[in-house]
Amino acid sequence: MDNQPPLLTLPEDDMRRMAEKVFDLIVDHFAGLKDLPVTTPSTLEHVTEGLHEPMPTQAVPVEQLLAQLKIHVFDQMTHLDHPRYFAFVPGPSNFVSAMADAIASSFNVFSGAFIGPSGVAQIEVTTIEWLRELFRFPQDAGGLFVSGGSMANMTGLAVARHVMLAGNTTNATVYFSDQTHSSVAKGLKILGFQQFQLRKIASDATFRLSVDALRQQIATDRLQGLVPFCVVANAGTTNAGAADPIKELSAFCKAEGLWLHVDGAYGGSAAITERGRKVLEGIELADSLGIDPHKWMFQPYEIGCVLVRNREHLKNTFRFSAEYLKLNEQCAEQINFCDYGVQLTRGFRALKLWLSLKAFGVDAFRAAITKGIENAEIVESLLRNDDCWEIITPAQMGIITFRYRADGLDEPSLNELNNHIAQDIIYSGYAMLSPTILGSKHVLRMCTINPRTTYDDLKQTVGMLKSFGEHIEVKPIS
Ligand SMILES: Cc1ncc(COP(=O)(O)O)c(C=O)c1O
Repeated sequence: MDNQPPLLTLPEDDMRRMAEKVFDLIVDHFAGLKDLPVTTPSTLEHVTEGLHEPMPTQAVPVEQLLAQLKIHVFDQMTHLDHPRYFAFVPGPSNFVSAMADAIASSFNVFSGAFIGPSGVAQIEVTTIEWLRELFRFPQDAGGLFVSGGSMANMTGLAVARHVMLAGNTTNATVYFSDQTHSSVAKGLKILGFQQFQLRKIASDATFRLSVDALRQQIATDRLQGLVPFCVVANAGTTNAGAADPIKELSAFCKAEGLWLHVDGAYGGSAAITERGRKVLEGIELADSLGIDPHKWMFQPYEIGCVLVRNREHLKNTFRFSAEYLKLNEQCAEQINFCDYGVQLTRGFRALKLWLSLKAFGVDAFRAAITKGIENAEIVESLLRNDDCWEIITPAQMGIITFRYRADGLDEPSLNELNNHIAQDIIYSGYAMLSPTILGSKHVLRMCTINPRTTYDDLKQTVGMLKSFGEHIEVKPIS
């Protein structure tokens, strides 16, 4: 009996063999990605063919499983880390952080509480401290790594609710522009706010929140008996990369006694560069800030981060005690991250950011972010050289929006034409970009934050878009 291997283990040799195969798969991915199609359009039938199967009751050889995964999952997927993935928000991850995730997962690190003097919490403390410095938050600020931007926003808003309303949310209202990411409204809904409490303000002609419009709305609302308590500003909108006037909003919020949460999930990371800092002036004045290292800080999913100006606010919002958590309380002078957010058991997200910041150095991150800003400017200059394009929003924070125009087409037909162009490039597999709607215009949008994107990638993509535009036949609807 004793010769039986323990349950759910592999002999050491088998582990080494599997690790080699897994790491070959990973290195092949990183080394060969740029030569693959960005996406391989497939049918639901095709996708389920190799994966819709009965539950296994017996062991299947690992080699066979890896082969199945390669063929039916990894060779079929859309690569958000591909240099020509320009849709939504790309995820231009990096190898070092992927290795960190493998280590964190292999050691099954618990990052909820200190549990004895260990480096685990200290890595998170140190990494949060680096971010605090990079974003120029004060010494008293604190933060927490969460799953992504949505959780970072919700966590910041939960703190705002706790600090500003002390539990009484009746008639309390939150203000943000119509360009604000849906995760803000979603988070507020989960936090118990009703639709009438979410005050969406029409953005100005440049898709920014106007302080004057905000002031007017808040004055009207106060007269109606509503209780404004929070403003959410965008450090780069998802649609157009537009940054709200954070510094002015901060001054306004201070004067009005309101909490300022900044959603920096898309563009916040740009604040660590010289160019981004100018656009995001005042980001360091936020009461809470959501950022998303799994976007423009090149981390693999999942890692978001919330920074809160006063660390105690974070703790006062989330700290709970229970008899089975007494051990944590004994090391209360240490940081128990379970006291700073929703999760008790949580993984070692900090490790990947820590390891990659150290392995590459923060200057490499700054250069990589700046490259993303410049890529969009290159696209803009390519488009401006050709009359067939109309720029809708100029390159800003790594995003440009534009549309193909053709003589004699009315607005609905132009919308249809541009949606077609987006479909065609996706089906080509060469590049991927997502259309969006700005005002009433259906436009093409490129988000160019992958630092591995080359000039040639950008030029060829614009050239292909034009040739699709020339070949699509759209008849005027009217
Ligand atoms: C501005 C902004 N806020 C929030 C989010 C949500 O972030 P996540 O997808 O990491 O939850 C996004 C995602 O694209 C975003 O662009």
